[in-house]
Amino acid sequence: EDYQLDGYADYMRKEIGEQPEAVRRALRGRLDERFSTARLGGLRLDPRELRSIRRVKFLGCGSAYYAGQIGAGLVEELARLPADAEPASEFRYRNPVVDPETLYVAVSQSGETADTLAAVQELSRKGGRVIGAVNAVASAIARECGSGVFLHAGPEVSVASTKAVTNMNTTFAMLALLLGRVRDLSVADGRRIVEGLDALPDHIEEVVRTQDEPIAEVARKFAEARHMFFVGRVRGWPVAREGAQKLKEISYVHAEAYQAGELKHGPIALIDPSMPSVVIVPDDELLVKNIGTMEQIKARGGPVIAVTNAQLPEGLADAELRVPRTEPELDPILFGIPLQLLAYHLATALGRDIDKPRNLAKSVTVE
Ligand code: G6P
Repeated sequence: EDYQLDGYADYMRKEIGEQPEAVRRALRGRLDERFSTARLGGLRLDPRELRSIRRVKFLGCGSAYYAGQIGAGLVEELARLPADAEPASEFRYRNPVVDPETLYVAVSQSGETADTLAAVQELSRKGGRVIGAVNAVASAIARECGSGVFLHAGPEVSVASTKAVTNMNTTFAMLALLLGRVRDLSVADGRRIVEGLDALPDHIEEVVRTQDEPIAEVARKFAEARHMFFVGRVRGWPVAREGAQKLKEISYVHAEAYQAGELKHGPIALIDPSMPSVVIVPDDELLVKNIGTMEQIKARGGPVIAVTNAQLPEGLADAELRVPRTEPELDPILFGIPLQLLAYHLATALGRDIDKPRNLAKSVTVE
């Protein structure tokens, strides 16, 4: 075994710390500063083929599905192409309409997830254009796809995926940049995204270095909670979903993710002092809306944990998990990091077996 714990208590914490290096590997040689775009040779698509894509659909399971949702948001924003994500486990069973102008992206850390592989096989059979976004190079999904983009996260041991997810998100930002730059994304905006991606490893490093201890404290403070909401809107919504997933997986605390605007249509009935809400609050055009959401939660006595890079009104949040500023489109990548740490420290405070959560497997190769 050349992959050791190196003094860490568990692989999850080790892998959280490896993310700056993992992202650096994902970016290496792929950012084209001259033309403000990305180079993804493994896609084997020339500019004309890239231009012929009318829609992008991400398919994956679990965290890979949520990463796909982040990818869909990036593609829509940067390339202005309709894009969405769907669990591969659903796609494979619903006799999907396979559209020749859609680029399908199969997302998987292990490359062995049975449902994702079956979705790829169904696509291939129907002549769909499917590429892989896979970490394990010699895996079944990578082979079945034949082309795609490797994640280069390195080996991931912890069942709860961290660095592979961050590399999925980073890779989708490059894919979105590339699709954008063969269309209407300007050189200036392309350059902004290239620079933002380039700075990402240092930003992640800063979150892990400066927020680890404060987040551990927040986790201890809220360790009694049996239920938690994770709330976000638009860019923050898939981030909230992945944050809730991570918490459920390793702490066994019930966590539910909700779109901020949907809270008032039902789930707000559950808010009380025993139910904290983790709210994703990027300093973007929706800041005022998200402040409103936090006020609604506070007004019902619910504690608020804000994940933010904004200056929030004094006393609004009971705790703040801070992230540095990046380009707004890239916020979903960075905002995931403190949520990994929150899940990790909450599970630690509850004495859970971090690397081997009950009932879960690292990869699910059967139905
Ligand atoms: C399992 C793991 C999840 C993972 C999912 C997809 O359910 O417990 O953490 O997100 O499989 O795995 P993949 O290897 O396809 O990314």
